[in-house]
Amino acid sequence: MATRELTPQDFETLLEFSKTLAQTAGKIIVEGSNAILNQDQGNVDEKKNSVDLVTQWDVKVEEHVKSEVAKTWPDFHFIGEETFSSGSEKPSLTDAPTFCVDPIDGTTNFVHGFPYACISIGMFYKKQPLLGVIYNPFLNEMYYGLKGSGSYVSFPYLDKPLRLPIASQRSLPSLSQALIGVEWGSDRRLSVMQQKATSFLRLAGDKDEIPNARMAHSLRSLGSAALNYGQIARGGLDIYWEVGCWPWDVCAGIVIALEAGCYVTGSKNFFKAHRHEEPTLMTDWTELIWGRKYIVIRGIADTPSEKGRDAQRRLVQDFYDSVEEWDAI
Ligand code: IPD
Repeated sequence: MATRELTPQDFETLLEFSKTLAQTAGKIIVEGSNAILNQDQGNVDEKKNSVDLVTQWDVKVEEHVKSEVAKTWPDFHFIGEETFSSGSEKPSLTDAPTFCVDPIDGTTNFVHGFPYACISIGMFYKKQPLLGVIYNPFLNEMYYGLKGSGSYVSFPYLDKPLRLPIASQRSLPSLSQALIGVEWGSDRRLSVMQQKATSFLRLAGDKDEIPNARMAHSLRSLGSAALNYGQIARGGLDIYWEVGCWPWDVCAGIVIALEAGCYVTGSKNFFKAHRHEEPTLMTDWTELIWGRKYIVIRGIADTPSEKGRDAQRRLVQDFYDSVEEWDAI
């Protein structure tokens, strides 16, 4: 079947559709949270281990989103966390418009009542991230963006959405001044935990005592990859790095972040091979998106001696010189 050609008008329609869908899904997420917290976590199941959680609400939200997409855009492809987990094969990126959805990103937060969970609705088109909507229904905050049209955040206490980043781009001379997003993830094997701990030690630890340390301002773990991307796009976090995420955790966030002037890349090897390419011009995201290793750094202002993009690349290099890397399972 020939790939459907989308027009700029279709892009706008799809973004509005995704924003509305995120809000209706958000109602189900809040309903689920109330049910779980009042039933003493009776509906929480484990996936690959006891810290990789899923609930009937993840499945319910994904079914809702999938059926709304199928009703409105029947010829579009769909990649969803729960559909993938239930045994389907790894879907490859094609030229077709493809929704890429995490129904509840931050499931651990969701089951604990920690209000940092969201729905993440992304879309690939012609193997590139096209649009993203990230909605946290507990705080009623929505990040959204469309390739080439900027990204925004809406807050319940403001009449109008704000263009991202919220504040003008600041400089970031070195990692020592950075607020860094990291996650514990669900891979708790000893070798991986040792490498994570060593990496965290070097990022946060005292330069005078710890070899290769950067002594960043601090480390943060929000517990949701998508919301970490939102924070990077708005300029609240400086860098977010994680090994082990999936395409549905990051697809929406990548669009929102790139539109806010952030720099996005993959593993150490991916960065080495592609560091001189401009991410907004990358034509095939398959390798990066399925690579399970992602790093994103906020927009940085140009200085007389260095372009912001060059500063972003220099800091990613410095970050990768400091941390370890392992295979995601
Ligand atoms: C997870 C969250 C978490 C991150 C994991 C993700 P889920 O998604 O984003 O912060 O550390 O890598 O898989 O399981 O809550 O949808």
